[in-house]
Amino acid sequence: MKIELVCDHICELGEGPVWDARGNKICWVDIVNGEIHEYDVNHRKLKTIPVHQMIGAMALKRNGNYVAALQHGFAFINRQTGEIKMIGDPEAHLSNNRFNDGKCDPAGRFWAGTMPFSEDSPAGSVYCLETDLSIEKKIGGVTVSNGMAWSHDHRTLYYIDSPSFEVVGYSYDVTTGDISGKKLIIAVSKEDGSPDGMTIDNEGMLWVAHWGGWKLTRWNPVTGKKLKEIALPVSQVTSCTFGGDHGEDLYITSAKIHLTAEQLEKQPLAGSLFVIRNCGFAGEACFEFAGA
Ligand code: BGC
Ligand code: CA
Repeated sequence: MKIELVCDHICELGEGPVWDARGNKICWVDIVNGEIHEYDVNHRKLKTIPVHQMIGAMALKRNGNYVAALQHGFAFINRQTGEIKMIGDPEAHLSNNRFNDGKCDPAGRFWAGTMPFSEDSPAGSVYCLETDLSIEKKIGGVTVSNGMAWSHDHRTLYYIDSPSFEVVGYSYDVTTGDISGKKLIIAVSKEDGSPDGMTIDNEGMLWVAHWGGWKLTRWNPVTGKKLKEIALPVSQVTSCTFGGDHGEDLYITSAKIHLTAEQLEKQPLAGSLFVIRNCGFAGEACFEFAGA
């Protein structure tokens, strides 16, 4: 598998890749720099939208704009003008927390989780922005809320709270958005680095990014067995998603935050966005937000 650089932009904390099939763009965030990046694959052009506060994650709306989880709550972002419309902040009272990873579910609700900046206490939660723009708390007691993916039969939500070194599964009701019955799906070994962002491929297998692990892995969620490892030239691998005309290209984000000058010498590409074109697997584009 050939790992290529998408462009030469380096993020502090690159995360949350989303494939925009209408525009043939790969979009991702730099959490701490508060930026959305969009790379036009056909025209090889990078555009950056500043959001003026940290941004944990975003998803596309059906009208092509973004819904996002910003440091100060859920928001809509106009892609053309950069205008930000705040929707609501479920953690206005928790100034030591920020939003981290998030994604839309198969019914078009937007889910995103929070974490304390200190990453050392279970002060975070997972919230769901319903399509009527109400906000519901779904999971409490999380430390570094990260990857989410839904099974193709829409009956399971896979979820990662990074310091647990686990991927867990909840029974998921697509009609109501209710989750129940947490189960262990994958136990990640400490040597692999902590599990971070996640996606699912067309065969229902999970792809997990490993923070501190220099790798991406593919797992069977039914057996809990690791099927594949892909080594990367950076230690802090943060997330991945499928893109391209037929979902055949695998995009991978990374971070350079917290690395020392000495470490950066050994991984000068830390913070880059990578792609493995025609990776031999494929996945659907992310779900879009179905609210107005
Ligand atoms: C967070 C980082 C954190 C890392 C650890 C990332 O998603 O944004 O702040 O250090 O996960 O797993
Ligand atoms: Ca992440």
